[in-house]
Amino acid sequence: MTDYFTLAQIDEVAQAVRVRLTTRPKVGVILGSGLGALAEAVESAAAIPYQDLPHWPRPTVEGHQGRLVNGKLEGQDVLVMQGRSHYYEGYSMAQVGLPVRVMRRLGIETLIVTNAAGAVNPDFRPGDLMLITDHLNLIGMAGLSPLRGPNLDEFGPRFPDMSQSYDRQLCALARQVAAEENLQLWEGVYVCLAGPSFETPADLRFLRSAGVDAVGMSTVPEVTVARHSGMRVLGVSGISNKANLDGNTITTHEEVLAAGNLIAPRLTALLRGVLRRF
Ligand code: HPA
Repeated sequence: MTDYFTLAQIDEVAQAVRVRLTTRPKVGVILGSGLGALAEAVESAAAIPYQDLPHWPRPTVEGHQGRLVNGKLEGQDVLVMQGRSHYYEGYSMAQVGLPVRVMRRLGIETLIVTNAAGAVNPDFRPGDLMLITDHLNLIGMAGLSPLRGPNLDEFGPRFPDMSQSYDRQLCALARQVAAEENLQLWEGVYVCLAGPSFETPADLRFLRSAGVDAVGMSTVPEVTVARHSGMRVLGVSGISNKANLDGNTITTHEEVLAAGNLIAPRLTALLRGVLRRF
């Protein structure tokens, strides 16, 4: 396991991606569990399998394709990660954060990050979308940060501010698109846990009392890396299941993937709308 990458290693990956790009992407998109469909909409797409890239963590779970897709989406030059890796797969936080650092070295300034999440907020239903307005970095509080190790000053400061992690203008744009396109868009706080076990009812009651609306196993490390290097971030959770606060429902990965089919068209409409109005 790699605890941290040097700038030279990050640039080695960036160069391996750069030589295969057909456009100069300014927007990076990370597609979560079962949400890979948006990548199919990219025009004049060039695909780069993760296995062709040095150091790049490869997804090991179903629902994550494992390739970069570069091309145009709604007139924007994008670099889409169709599938991501998680800490629970055995990767270090540095590995989980590596793709975002590579994006930054490629000149990407905006990160759109998506995930499948469990609803802690009782109003949310499977298939719903939630705009992430803030996150609870519980995994970071437990000592797992992708920024651990020597600070790379080329990216940002040792102690980065996280007070406005989710860009207010991009949030406003997402709200506007949702209103115009008649898409229901909840808002709330996302929490990242290490996983891979789902939460106990006691975990969930604790999270709810801490102000959490949606729970998952990703996103926060990537957003931390993005904010460290000054990228603007838009985050959207697709609600895949109702979290089990009462202890009477079982949560499965199959359920999460099946909900992806409900979420994907809505998420695609929202993100296309956002990119169109960028
Ligand atoms: N808990 C944690 N992560 C998840 C869930 C959940 O209920 N659903 C999708 N990812």
